Amino acid sequence: MADLTTDFLGIKSPNPFWLASAPPTDKEYNVRRAFEAGWGGVVWKTLGGEGPPVVNVNGPRYGVIYGADRRVLGINNIELITDRDLYTNLEEIKRVKADYPDRAIIVSIMVPCEEEAWKAILPLVEDTGADGIELNFGCPHGMAERGMGSAVGQVPEYIEMVTRWCKQYYSKPVIVKLTPNITDIRQPAAAAMRGGADAVSLINTINSITSVNLDTMSPEPSIDGKGTHGGYCGPAVKPIAMSMVSEIARNPETAGLPISGIGGVTTWRDAAEYITLGCGNVQVCTAAMTYGFKIVQEMISGLSQWMDEKGHTSIQDFMGAAVPNTTDWQYLNLNFIAKAQINQDDCISCGRCYAACEDTSHQAISMSEDRTFTVIDEECVACNLCVDVCPVENCITMVELEPGTIDPRTGKVVEKDYANWTTHPNNPSATAAE
Ligand SMILES: Cc1cc2nc3c(=O)[nH]c(=O)nc-3n(C[C@H](O)[C@H](O)[C@H](O)COP(=O)(O)O)c2cc1C
Repeated sequence: MADLTTDFLGIKSPNPFWLASAPPTDKEYNVRRAFEAGWGGVVWKTLGGEGPPVVNVNGPRYGVIYGADRRVLGINNIELITDRDLYTNLEEIKRVKADYPDRAIIVSIMVPCEEEAWKAILPLVEDTGADGIELNFGCPHGMAERGMGSAVGQVPEYIEMVTRWCKQYYSKPVIVKLTPNITDIRQPAAAAMRGGADAVSLINTINSITSVNLDTMSPEPSIDGKGTHGGYCGPAVKPIAMSMVSEIARNPETAGLPISGIGGVTTWRDAAEYITLGCGNVQVCTAAMTYGFKIVQEMISGLSQWMDEKGHTSIQDFMGAAVPNTTDWQYLNLNFIAKAQINQDDCISCGRCYAACEDTSHQAISMSEDRTFTVIDEECVACNLCVDVCPVENCITMVELEPGTIDPRTGKVVEKDYANWTTHPNNPSATAAE
């Protein structure tokens, strides 16, 4: 049986599935139920400093993008950090940690960018017995306007400075949570590392407006006729988050920096993908908010079964396995040649492949009078659009041409030695190497 336990920064948890800092982790009641359901760890909903807690809107906090089947693809939220009293949260964290010593509890913190503010809160958090802290440099709304959240995460110098304070005034692991609302994610990650961060976690939410009400002319969610940008998350953001994770994982400057992957994790497969890109664990918010805590059981059994099938005995076995295969465009092998192939037995003659290819691509699919669709190899550049728009899974596939055969499009023999491309004069890396 596959062993799903993880050791992230010395913090042990029975599986790599942690709940991200958000409403699911806002209070003792939720976190206890989450642990009973099987979650390996939680990042407690972000705490602010002493004084009156923040006040949230008393209207809709979420905007949603649905798929055609009304499945939630993305959620946009305008919620702030916890609106519960600091000391109530601290007491609850202490109690839950004492009762669940085998689960990870990380405390997310966001206080003003002043040394005194961090110095004041860190001993209080240390006293809870929680396993570590996560610095929320990510929330893009409400707190950013007050000089916190993404306002810090967008300035590498601030990230480095605050991380340094945390390492000075707190003895356990410090995770820096990054905002995706930035051009080059490698820079804040490197700054966190310079400040002494034990790990980075990403992504927090993406600036977004999900819809505009065309009657009231207000962005939604709308509070008394006015809306504001919120933070986008859920399955829709996973591709963006994974790209950012991979940028950090393969950057020599941040080599070895542990990563906690966040963004759209809904199934065991999503988690496995993040782990292959270098993550030591994953954090989940939208999936839990959409389907409830018990979804973790499907994640656990699915990952475990896949690992057994692949012969992976531990998470470590496949962690980072896709990093060496994630490269820059110029290193892609242009001698690799494939052609689309339509399985006529599966084809339902809908014609979507034909319409897409004929109108917008390479005119590489023909349609006969009886609506039989056939790939024209002389025109096909294997762009994959027909595969992407076909409603029948695996009806159209890309088939690699054997080396030594003739490519009907170019009339050239398919090269045997694919590695030749690295010395091709059109390859920028070949020129750079000269
Ligand atoms: C309603 C809501 C509130 C959130 N609050 C916080 C927060 O207080 N602190 C934080 O670091 N991230 C917060 N997040 C961001 C999540 O922790 C997570 O980074 C993001 O939702 C992406 O993960 P997902 O795609 O699994 O939802 C919040 C997200 C949502 C939807």
